[in-house]
Amino acid sequence: MSRWWQGAVGYEIYPRSFADSNDDGVGDLEGIRQRLPYLDWLGVDAVWIGPFYDSPGLDHGYDVADYRAVNPIHGDLVDFENLIADAHGRGIRVIVDIVPNHSSSQHFWFREAQQGRSNPYRDYYIWRDPAADGGPPNNWVSHFGGPAWTLDEASGQYWCHLFLPEQPDLNWANPAVLDEFDAILRFWCDRGVDGFRVDVAHALMKDPQLRDNPQQLPVADPTNPKEVFDSFEHLYDLDQDSTVEIFKRWNKVVAPYDAVLIGESHPRSIDRVARYVRDEALHTVFYLDPGRMGWAPGEILDKLEAVHRSTDKGISWIIDNHDESRSVTRFGGGEAGRRRSLAVMTFMMALGGFPFLWEGQELGLVDGLIADAHLEDPIATRNEHGIGRDRTRTVMPWDTSHANGFAPSAEPWLPAPPRHPEETVEVQRQDEESWLNRHRRLLAVRKAHPDLWSAPPEWLPSPAAAVRMLGRGSTLALTNLDAVAHRVELPAGSWHIFYQSGPAAATRPVTSPFEMEPETSYLLVTAI
Ligand code: GLC
Repeated sequence: MSRWWQGAVGYEIYPRSFADSNDDGVGDLEGIRQRLPYLDWLGVDAVWIGPFYDSPGLDHGYDVADYRAVNPIHGDLVDFENLIADAHGRGIRVIVDIVPNHSSSQHFWFREAQQGRSNPYRDYYIWRDPAADGGPPNNWVSHFGGPAWTLDEASGQYWCHLFLPEQPDLNWANPAVLDEFDAILRFWCDRGVDGFRVDVAHALMKDPQLRDNPQQLPVADPTNPKEVFDSFEHLYDLDQDSTVEIFKRWNKVVAPYDAVLIGESHPRSIDRVARYVRDEALHTVFYLDPGRMGWAPGEILDKLEAVHRSTDKGISWIIDNHDESRSVTRFGGGEAGRRRSLAVMTFMMALGGFPFLWEGQELGLVDGLIADAHLEDPIATRNEHGIGRDRTRTVMPWDTSHANGFAPSAEPWLPAPPRHPEETVEVQRQDEESWLNRHRRLLAVRKAHPDLWSAPPEWLPSPAAAVRMLGRGSTLALTNLDAVAHRVELPAGSWHIFYQSGPAAATRPVTSPFEMEPETSYLLVTAI
């Protein structure tokens, strides 16, 4: 097995929002294919394409009605084959989403399961009789608001759903479900995919006794689903030890294809992250905390260091994805947010693993502006105080033409005011000091200095909580996320900066002690 992802940088694409080739306002696979030259120029090694499968779209594709079919709004299988062929022609690998925790309620399996208790597909899902009072079988709640159980009037039983009622959770204790997904993985591997991003990988197995989760915090606003969800200690619905067994099996399924398995993981504590990448289970997992935190530099670095120390096997480092407010916004907005976002990402590039950018992150985008009436995400539309995820999902700003070049003339599915010219790919490409070109250089230098991701890591003593130094072979990564400058002693040797997250990125020699500017990261190499 080549482990091609070691040293690679990925790029997440949200198919609805990337590029619309057929002018219906929704992005499609052919649109992605046409933009491959840009991704090639940017220097990404792999794209992760969000779900494009047949779906009623209540969670924008994360409610899959047919795991082997392309949703006609995104194209068809031929488009997918063309996209893979062109990507491979450019040396770009293609990773697709797999959504195993739940299907859509429109999936054939669930429609059959609803036919009654004796239907052969009944056991594909998790059903339970009501509690003694007729209510849900336990106190589990949905990420998207309300209980994690909905009553099926016909059979008198509840089905379990950690997300929408229309996203029933599959029963991973049923061997037939395991067999189904082995075949689905092979179906896409046979079409040339290079890996899978496993949606809510930590949720697949549930406690066999379906015990109540302990409530650990009081809830001030019961109409805010995130607050309600986070008020419980998720001992029994998430992060069960047995889930890892599923990935050991998948690991064997994908091995002949050299495909990577990347889990979306949100375990109960940092020391549980590594469990998923042990014993040849998942190859790597996304560590999500830095993608949801506000600007708390010391805390961000503490978490990165702790997770990094807990596994050398591989984390997919991110500060942005399709589920959270953009890092530039979370980190303070404007130029300060951009500077901080790139400083954190620069340091992440030296942590090893398989880091990912989220579409538009390379442009330093802030969240898009969407009028409340246009919000689409069920977290926002189905809850009085739910903070939806739409603002990170506005369309990619390519240029200054209609809809920032996303669609020839259609209104984008998520209407928002156009981005400023200086936020677009077209304008930023022409400016060597743009955020786009700084990100592009970062990807290039990571390739040019393999020690940065492959040499044994050594955390060096640091003078402040918001400062870290990580040595790796001939390279050294320094980050100062503090608001003030800091001086650090460099290890013996003669050092050259080959990348810095601020302006003036030119290579230059440095001497110890070295003064780091505020909110800036540096990559150094020993002179040869
Ligand atoms: C994951 C996805 C998110 C989706 C949810 C349910 O967290 O990233 O977008 O809504 O799973 O599938």
